Amino acid sequence: MNKHYQYDVLVIGSGAAGLTLALSLAKHARVAVLSKNAINQGSTWYAQGGIAAVLDDQDSIDAHVADTLIAGAGLCHEDAVRFTVEHSKAAIQWLIDQGVNFTKETANGDYHLTKEGGHSHRRIIHSADATGQAVHSTLIEQVQKQQNIDIFENHVAINLISQADADSRKLRCSGAYVLDNNNDAIHVFQAKVVVLATGGASKVYLYSSNPDSASGDGIAMAWRAGCRVANMEFNQFHPTCLFHPRAKNFLITEALRGEGAYLRLPSGERFMPRFDEREELAPRDIVARAIDHEIKRLGCDFVYLDISHKSPEFIAEHFPTVKARCLEFGIDITKEPIPVVPAAHYTCGGVVVDKNGQTDLQHLYAIGETSFTGLHGANRMASNSLLECIVYAQSAAQHILAKLDKINPPDRSPHWDASRVRDSDEDVVISHNWDELRRFMWDYVGIVRTHKRLERATHRIKLLQKEIAEYYSNYNISSDLIELRNLATVAELIIRSAHERKESRGLHFSLDHPEKSPIARDTILVPTNFAGQDVIVSKDS
Ligand code: FAD
Ligand code: SIN
Repeated sequence: MNKHYQYDVLVIGSGAAGLTLALSLAKHARVAVLSKNAINQGSTWYAQGGIAAVLDDQDSIDAHVADTLIAGAGLCHEDAVRFTVEHSKAAIQWLIDQGVNFTKETANGDYHLTKEGGHSHRRIIHSADATGQAVHSTLIEQVQKQQNIDIFENHVAINLISQADADSRKLRCSGAYVLDNNNDAIHVFQAKVVVLATGGASKVYLYSSNPDSASGDGIAMAWRAGCRVANMEFNQFHPTCLFHPRAKNFLITEALRGEGAYLRLPSGERFMPRFDEREELAPRDIVARAIDHEIKRLGCDFVYLDISHKSPEFIAEHFPTVKARCLEFGIDITKEPIPVVPAAHYTCGGVVVDKNGQTDLQHLYAIGETSFTGLHGANRMASNSLLECIVYAQSAAQHILAKLDKINPPDRSPHWDASRVRDSDEDVVISHNWDELRRFMWDYVGIVRTHKRLERATHRIKLLQKEIAEYYSNYNISSDLIELRNLATVAELIIRSAHERKESRGLHFSLDHPEKSPIARDTILVPTNFAGQDVIVSKDS
């Protein structure tokens, strides 16, 4: 049965960002948290390397800021970087207070800090090589104790609901239509404030390190609701995912390279020294491009990542997850190199927000990988993402709490109208379009782009969107259809943004424009129904 729910705050997404925000509000507000699968199914759970923060006396805020700016290739917003880094120590302390068990040095009991690409200091706090699981399981445990937080698993937000706000004369976000996959009902969730914490969109590419949930739902929903999105052309490819026919999405953490692993060609030769003086620890865009270059040059399927020169005890202590997973495929990383390839990993662009996570649409916030804060620029530095999730979730929570009492509950919205649609007898259309979309995005809008490839992708996405729109208006909704529709929107935004950038910078590399422009500009796309304008509202309506 279709239900009508009313909350103070609706949080769409149960990753590090969504759960941190929910916990930060729980004492003062009634909160609903939606998760489209099980509560732990998001990128957060799979994070390996750790969280970047200034925790060591030898390190400094200025150094972390400077490294982030360099990795971001001139496009980071320095104020957002400084804001995030200045809050890093408190964010880690908050996680420790929640109960996260970070790895300590055996010698002195201090937290062990590892290193990753682009960082000039050891500043990555971690839980061996399963940091995401340690953080996420702790947050889940805390959220489940809170009476004020209701968790809705297998609930997929379809669209945001907006209505005119009589007082401010502006559109406001007032909730979402949500598919309940437990019984196929479509509920109305209404709230004074709605927060998008839906993660990234890397599933738009054929090969990705991300779980299936990363279909860019929040970005697509915000765009449809009239919010600007920025820098969507900067999708990060992680250099080292396990290459094996049976290994879906398995990442080999950058911390291996931080602890001395080498990248090698099939001949055994190291190649990174030919590409960058920082060698294996150059920022990700450079390493991923170098691997792509060597794979294409030699016509091989993969390169190798080799840590077998370290002692078996060291490897077992620092990388138990990677070691165990590789062993399942018959690879003993203490004795032999690991076959690796780059794969889509992180969406640097997203929904435009300010320091409080506020979007263009009144009472709608976006946090975590869904958002564009300006922190990452043209290339995210390793382990800055979980940090951004915690810092911005907390600043959004403060902002929401400061105004929650003054916000009127929204007017009651009608139920979802499914009177003109029927059950589909052609679900193969959805799976076919999923495959086609992800394949042409990989081939035409991947690590190396050209004008011609982007033109081809533009043509394909227009045809696909037409077909998807027809399907959406004629047939009953399903999770696969919701995700396909959102992936198509995000693909269109990525292609448009890539077209607009007539230079090569960070993660966007074009053979037609190989030089970096002297002026660094964000690519900001503005929807035709831009919500940042006043709407004319009659007080009596
Ligand atoms: P997620 O954790 O992805 O959560 C998204 C949530 O939104 C999920 O609960 C999902 O169910 C829900 N959702 C999505 N759409 C809908 C919808 N329509 N309706 C309802 N719910 C919805 N970053 C680091 O800083 N350090 C690392 O070491 C690191 N390692 C990584 C390793 C891997 C393999 C991957 C994939 C990423 C890694 N990252 C790392 C990146 C980082 O993990 C993510 O950027 C971060 O966890 C994103 O958190 P989030 O809360 O924004 O989204
Ligand atoms: C990794 O462990 O290599 C992933 C780190 C990140 O994406 O920040």
